[in-house]
Amino acid sequence: MNAIGFFALMLIFGLYSADLPFSSAATIFSVLNYGAKADGKTDDSKAFSAAWKAACSATTQNPTVVVPRTISSPSSPSVWSGRDRSKWLTFNGVTGLLITGTGTIDSHGSGWWGQSCRDHPNLALSLISCKQSTISGIYFVNSAQVHLVIYQSNDILIKNMHITAPQNSPNTDGIHIEASQNVLVNNSVIATGDDCVSIGDITSNINVSFVNCGPGHGVSVGSLGKNGNSVKVENIHVKKVNFKGTTNGARIKTWQVGLGYAQKISFEHITLKSVQNPIYIDQNYCDIKGSRGNCGQKSTGVKISQVTYNDIVGTSSTYVAINLNCSKSVACTGITLSSIQIKSDKSGQQVISKCTNAHGTNSGVVQPKSCLQS
Ligand SMILES: *[C@@H]1O[C@H](CO)[C@@H](O)[C@H](O)[C@H]1NC(C)=O
Ligand SMILES: *[C@@H]1O[C@H](CO)[C@@H](O)[C@H](O)[C@H]1NC(C)=O
Ligand SMILES: *[C@@H]1O[C@H](CO)[C@@H](O)[C@H](O)[C@H]1NC(C)=O
Repeated sequence: MNAIGFFALMLIFGLYSADLPFSSAATIFSVLNYGAKADGKTDDSKAFSAAWKAACSATTQNPTVVVPRTISSPSSPSVWSGRDRSKWLTFNGVTGLLITGTGTIDSHGSGWWGQSCRDHPNLALSLISCKQSTISGIYFVNSAQVHLVIYQSNDILIKNMHITAPQNSPNTDGIHIEASQNVLVNNSVIATGDDCVSIGDITSNINVSFVNCGPGHGVSVGSLGKNGNSVKVENIHVKKVNFKGTTNGARIKTWQVGLGYAQKISFEHITLKSVQNPIYIDQNYCDIKGSRGNCGQKSTGVKISQVTYNDIVGTSSTYVAINLNCSKSVACTGITLSSIQIKSDKSGQQVISKCTNAHGTNSGVVQPKSCLQS
């Protein structure tokens, strides 16, 4: 996945000429030449649009928009009044986009964190309906909500990222992928207040590898089927992820009212350090009067099958290290637990596994002892 050969638009941060990935034929459109003040006070969005527009009409290969090393959002949410609060930096319908450099996207999200999440502007950076695109090397800090969203996009490579927000900042997921196919998140460090990576409805061929996650809520497939919609999620592979101090490790979470399926999911070669719910399926996720909890049994559910947990080693900070909580109406099937060694992070304490309507097989060592039904 590389911009060459496509109508390439590149947004390059903090660039020195030696860093240029395309040394020849890249025509440079610096936002500074389109009126950006880059003083941390002035709204430079018109300059960004102008540089982008000029790049888009360039006839040369690989037109490149160059941006100084930090893109900074206004810190007061009130600046958004009368504007679309769901967006900040958005690329819509671009093929062959490369966003790279060593720059920072700083959302100054703290002003939003005390507000109801309905009022948060959604995202720092979103790719909507993009194809064959790469995001590499960018630092994200303190988004109001999700830092990077991939939506309705295909063939996307996200690598060498560094995403941070405080542990207690609400809904600050690192990367959220939804309605997309063929996405790889690789070699990244994510430490936020919500999921490091979350994978939503209608996704397939999504891989997450070589990620250090924590603090945060782990890598989550879900939550799926929130609005009673039909879910289609398959071929999700999470491997070589290190979880440190997260509230979950490998999690699949589906709403009771959801329909459809989540299948062919694997979590492999995972390490855990004081993780609260290292292996977790919650197929009973629900919401009564705005609060989450036991909503009673429902006949609906997202069918979860062919889920493999392989080579998962480390420590749990809670007693239930493996919790496969599936619904009575739509049980989980084809679960495999293989080479699992999870201990308590407190010496002398035990951990256990709990299964509800979870069926499958074990192979190799499984510790704590598996509770899967055949
Ligand atoms: C994801 O991993 C699978 C299995 O390792 C591989 O076949 C597939 O090509 C990968 N897909 C992406 C988008 O990296
Ligand atoms: C993913 O990252 C690992 C570790 O840095 C590296 O060895 C591998 O080549 C990367 N794969 C891709 C497709 O970028
Ligand atoms: C399973 O989910 C139900 C419904 O949310 C909840 O009441 C129950 O406590 C959960 N069981 C475990 C072991 O987490």
